[in-house]
Amino acid sequence: MIKVVVCGALGRMGSTVGRLVNESSDLELVGGIDLKEGSFYGVEVVDSTRIGTFLAGKKPDVLIDFSAPAATVATARAAAAAGTALVIGTTGFTPEQRAGMAKSIEGAVPAVISSNFSIGVNIFWKLVREAARMIPGYDIEVIEAHHRYKKDAPSGTAKTLLQILDEELGVREKIYGREGMKERGREIGVHVIRGGDIVGDHAVMFSGNFETIQLSHRAYDRAVFAHGALKAANWVVGKKPGIYSMYDVLSLK
Ligand SMILES: NC(=O)c1ccc[n+]([C@@H]2O[C@H](COP(=O)([O-])OP(=O)(O)OC[C@H]3O[C@@H](n4cnc5c(N)ncnc54)[C@H](O)[C@@H]3O)[C@@H](O)[C@H]2O)c1
Repeated sequence: MIKVVVCGALGRMGSTVGRLVNESSDLELVGGIDLKEGSFYGVEVVDSTRIGTFLAGKKPDVLIDFSAPAATVATARAAAAAGTALVIGTTGFTPEQRAGMAKSIEGAVPAVISSNFSIGVNIFWKLVREAARMIPGYDIEVIEAHHRYKKDAPSGTAKTLLQILDEELGVREKIYGREGMKERGREIGVHVIRGGDIVGDHAVMFSGNFETIQLSHRAYDRAVFAHGALKAANWVVGKKPGIYSMYDVLSLK
């Protein structure tokens, strides 16, 4: 059995991951980490200041993290020191935080990092890349919608979409929302919606004269991300140290 600790255990994603690990036959839930101590699915949740001694005592094979950017940087450092593999789903890192995290991981432990663990979104990313290659002249708008509690904007998934478009088309200016009088240029429009309990919607519109192609993905339940994270946890244990993506896990490269 692969032993799992969840960081952000008491949050929306962490508790979903905990439930699915608890129900899984090949993974064993051995603990959680959050800002406050408590318990979930019959195991202890410790406060994050105790992460070092907790990992040394529980000896998990993998730590799954869905918490907050600064927390994840510290968690990655502690997991790397403990030799624990990582699955990181947190989004909203600054470039400095991302670099700090990579420095802890490289040469120490294997880690799967993805802004979206759903299988459908990983396929959607590939389709968007393909479309951008085929119709580079079309106008592009990226739209995403999430629940009212989501703090980072645009979403990590939308940022990955923008990165894919930049890789295929060259870096274009991004316009975040539109207001006032301005003619459209070669920019990419980015539109963010926050409200209610929307789990996660993303769309990319490619518009030419007389037609629009719209590629989109809708998540109905956050269990879809948790299922992908569990798949990544099963895959990452025993891999060589370094940073991997869901494309590696799903053999989509
Ligand atoms: N990659 C994906 O597929 C995917 C999918 C959904 C959400 N996310 C991301 O996962 C993250 C969490 O999302 P959520 O909706 O569960 O948020 P949430 O606010 O419900 O949960 C975050 C949890 O992290 C805890 N936390 C904060 N600081 C901490 C620290 N220092 N140490 C330990 N725990 C700490 C919070 O107390 C909270 O319980 C966000 O960054 C979100 O964008 C990623």
